[in-house]
Amino acid sequence: MDWDPEEVRQLTEEIPWIRDLYLYPEVGSTNDVARDLGDMGAPEGVAVLADAQTRGRGRAGRSWWTPPGRAIALSLLVRPRRPVADWPQLGMVAGLAAVEAVQGIGCPAGLKWPNDLMIPPVIGEGPSLTAWRKAGGILVESFPPAFAVIGIGINVNISPEEIPPDLREILGSLSQTLGRRIPRLAVLKGLLRAFASLYLEWNAGARLVERWAAALIMLGRPVRVLTPEGACEGIAEGVDEGGGLRVRLPDGRERRFHAGEVSLRG
Ligand code: BTN
Repeated sequence: MDWDPEEVRQLTEEIPWIRDLYLYPEVGSTNDVARDLGDMGAPEGVAVLADAQTRGRGRAGRSWWTPPGRAIALSLLVRPRRPVADWPQLGMVAGLAAVEAVQGIGCPAGLKWPNDLMIPPVIGEGPSLTAWRKAGGILVESFPPAFAVIGIGINVNISPEEIPPDLREILGSLSQTLGRRIPRLAVLKGLLRAFASLYLEWNAGARLVERWAAALIMLGRPVRVLTPEGACEGIAEGVDEGGGLRVRLPDGRERRFHAGEVSLRG
């Protein structure tokens, strides 16, 4: 494990919102560890970081791969004072924080609805947005009214050969795009700082929906939305207050999506 426990501990001093940071060489899922801490009464601001996960989870029941030494697997415990109806917005808070952290190390970044962290395959050649790859994701698990766990995964130093060939155009990592090894601590520090600041704003009542919409890479573009009921194509026009995606269909009607997989079309 190349996380330096002392450097990681130092983050709790630099970022006062982080009350405690538990570092593990390997866990099943950091979200499960954070949930157990929440059940035991741990306070808001407790963070769980693992070098590797053996049963990492993604959205929609998918698995999430966290190989040792090369990614960030982080879960944050929050006890929001905002109404439970607003808690789905925690995904926006975390998505924005992930974008800020990645931009902070000099890599362009945006979000694919709802909260996939997307980066270009290379810097400087102006690759089209359809070529952007997923370098991270957010999994919010809520246990209202007591607490929620916000899981954030970022591929930092994963090389293309490690990614299955059929996923190489879809998944990326910061080191692939920037063409150099990236210090995970710098990304983690930026992520924790950005999250703490955005969360404090949000918990005090701020509206983040416009900032989140501005980070979405597909607004104004043709998209295909895949739902369990089938596929649907149209122009992604905007988002609603709750984060739902508004799509203008070819027949002029508007459809709103609250779940599903979106891909950019051309
Ligand atoms: C997704 O895009 O599907 C969400 C991926 C979320 C992965 C992170 S890694 C840290 C935390 N622990 C997990 O098991 N999942 C989240």
